[in-house]
Amino acid sequence: MANIVWHPHPIDQAARAAQKGQQPVLLWFTGLSGAGKSTLAGALERALFEAGLHTYLLDGDNVRHGLCQELGFSAADRAENLRRVGEVAKLMVDAGLVVLSAFISPTIKERSRLRALFPVGQFIEVHVATPLVVCEQRDPKGLYVKARRGEISDFTGISSPYEAPLAPELTIDTSQGELATQVAAIIEYLIDCGVMHGEREVATAS
Ligand code: ADX
Repeated sequence: MANIVWHPHPIDQAARAAQKGQQPVLLWFTGLSGAGKSTLAGALERALFEAGLHTYLLDGDNVRHGLCQELGFSAADRAENLRRVGEVAKLMVDAGLVVLSAFISPTIKERSRLRALFPVGQFIEVHVATPLVVCEQRDPKGLYVKARRGEISDFTGISSPYEAPLAPELTIDTSQGELATQVAAIIEYLIDCGVMHGEREVATAS
């Protein structure tokens, strides 16, 4: 970072957050492909949005079409994918938003790097702990079948490891119960830690 000096700007995160009347955080959804990260994050975002919060959802499948389009699934490429997403999420949190991110993010090391970008309480790790056997049965994109046939290399859960979080703020198995109940559990957590106010109109997923 030679010859580059950080320029402080007059409007800070607190001012941006106060203008929006909210406490910015990053909700980081981690789990296997097909675990339901995108569905859960999408339903939660809708509920938060409808409750009047200013939100943004970053999703692995979408980000890999643009910001990270040249990256694959080697350990180095995943690390770079997550580094970029972490920096973008940090900017969005700095802008005062409630950010939701749905990425496999398979290693404890990369996820602790991400957590370290934020002050305590601003990074909320949600382990979408749907068992591999269920993800494989769902196989919404037909990728597990291809991975089993050896047509996709480094496939998480099959030919590449997934390290479950040791101390996530929340754990949700989407094969148990309803989507609306899972969304409500996250909202309850957000109310408990002051990110949401109980009196806000809370619309759960339909
Ligand atoms: S991460 O490991 O770098 O966090 P990310 O969440 O961005 O992964 O992308 C995962 C998505 O890419 C999966 O939902 C799946 O649709 C697709 N994908 C394609 N190849 C692979 C692979 N080898 N391993 C895992 N997911 C893959």
